[in-house]
Amino acid sequence: MEQGVSFDLELIRRYDQSGPRYTSYPTAVEFDESFDQTAYQAACARSNESGRPLSIYFHIPFCDTVCFYCACNKIATKDRSLAPPYLERVYRELEMQSALFDKSRQVEQLHWGGGTPTFLSDAQMIELMEVTRRHFTLAGDDVGEFSIEIDPREADADTVKLLRRIGFNRMSLGVQDFDPRVQEAVNRFQTEAQTMTVLEAAIAEGFRSTSIDLIYGLPFQSVESFGKTLERVIEVNPQRLSIFNYAHLPDRFKPQRRINDADLPAPEVKLDILQSTIARLTEAGYIYIGMDHFARPDDELALAQQAGTLYRNFQGYSTHADCDLIGIGVTSIGMIDNTYGQNRRELAEYYADLDAGRLPVFRGIELNRDDLIRRDVITRLICHFQLDKGSVESKWGIQFDDYFAESLGKLAGMAEDGLVALDADKIRILARGRLLVRNICMAFDAYLAAKTGPIGFSKVI
Ligand SMILES: C[S@@+](CC[C@H](N)C(=O)[O-])C[C@H]1O[C@@H](n2cnc3c(N)ncnc32)[C@H](O)[C@@H]1O
Ligand code: SF4
Repeated sequence: MEQGVSFDLELIRRYDQSGPRYTSYPTAVEFDESFDQTAYQAACARSNESGRPLSIYFHIPFCDTVCFYCACNKIATKDRSLAPPYLERVYRELEMQSALFDKSRQVEQLHWGGGTPTFLSDAQMIELMEVTRRHFTLAGDDVGEFSIEIDPREADADTVKLLRRIGFNRMSLGVQDFDPRVQEAVNRFQTEAQTMTVLEAAIAEGFRSTSIDLIYGLPFQSVESFGKTLERVIEVNPQRLSIFNYAHLPDRFKPQRRINDADLPAPEVKLDILQSTIARLTEAGYIYIGMDHFARPDDELALAQQAGTLYRNFQGYSTHADCDLIGIGVTSIGMIDNTYGQNRRELAEYYADLDAGRLPVFRGIELNRDDLIRRDVITRLICHFQLDKGSVESKWGIQFDDYFAESLGKLAGMAEDGLVALDADKIRILARGRLLVRNICMAFDAYLAAKTGPIGFSKVI
């Protein structure tokens, strides 16, 4: 596949709109409470018949301090005594969940996300991994993708050593920006030394993949200031980089109200930052994987993209396409067989369900055949920037051009603008359309088509 992305300011301006990130299709907006424990259990039983490998996501919601920009599901607290009661419920949930899955099914992917997973003490992290291994069969280190989100302010070289010992082999590090002025405006004070210590330890301990998260669009950022952060990051040469567009939705995320609108870079400046970031990363040898992600050409994501085996779910891009995903912890989302199911979003409710012996799944959706077909198409486009119509037709027994006549009609304008090529047998997202892949996927989204009025998603760019 031809790789590369091109930045066309005029096109980006024209297409800049709100849209889903498609970590799921249908998106979480479509989940409803008619999907309950019983529906979840039935999905688990069906999934056992498939014998697919498993993926487990653990959500650790606590953070020592709040970063004002944060849009993650977190609970800001300095009270470390909150961890044991949380873990107690997580263990209960692990036990209940494990009873639903055949023990012969291997866990090929495991992810601790947050919040801040290393809010837990060393002993708690060791215990959590032990309890997990007691209930599930984890794949070997050579096959398994075992990853953790690290806030370098909450970890040091010894933490990294411990994490490797208990089984982790991939990590992503939250950095966002090294500029002190930006850090002050977002209440995240993190020295370069803290970040480098963790990154160097990860490389020394044999972590197979290291990734750094940056955000553009934060207060006081400019092309020059963000460029400096980027240079420092390029110097340490992480395998992957996530460059997130700051999603500013203060009505939804309360801490964002502490960010002064007037301090945010103007839209033109944001686009300039994005443009120079892409140019610099390309020059430094990184490949644009898609949706905010860059990787070195020898990274397994880049290789999987070239081989056509890349996949994307709630945990981002992955090389494990065929797993059922179990979500453990408050707010976690699972993807089992043809369903998505989400756990309670309030800690008290999550605890109450488990204390009463109920699974904490409270809403979700069972995908119908049309949802499954559209999800397949959207996933192919996001992961590979192209789609072979014949392969979709033989998988689903449809006539692509007939089935998607309306979607193809919506793409006609984008084809004229050079974002996408609509060949007889293929759809190819061209270099000019790659940053706008969300817009292209939106043409295949049956739920968006049915909606009118504001949709409450973040801006595409
Ligand atoms: C779930 S957070 C966990 C990382 C860890 N707690 C830390 O802060 O280092 C994952 C990443 O989401 C990104 N993020 C959080 N809020 C965001 C927002 N409003 N817009 C864009 N990216 C955001 C940040 O880059 C962050 O590192
Ligand atoms: S960015 Fe990370 S550390 Fe900061 S509040 Fe969000 S989850 Fe917590």
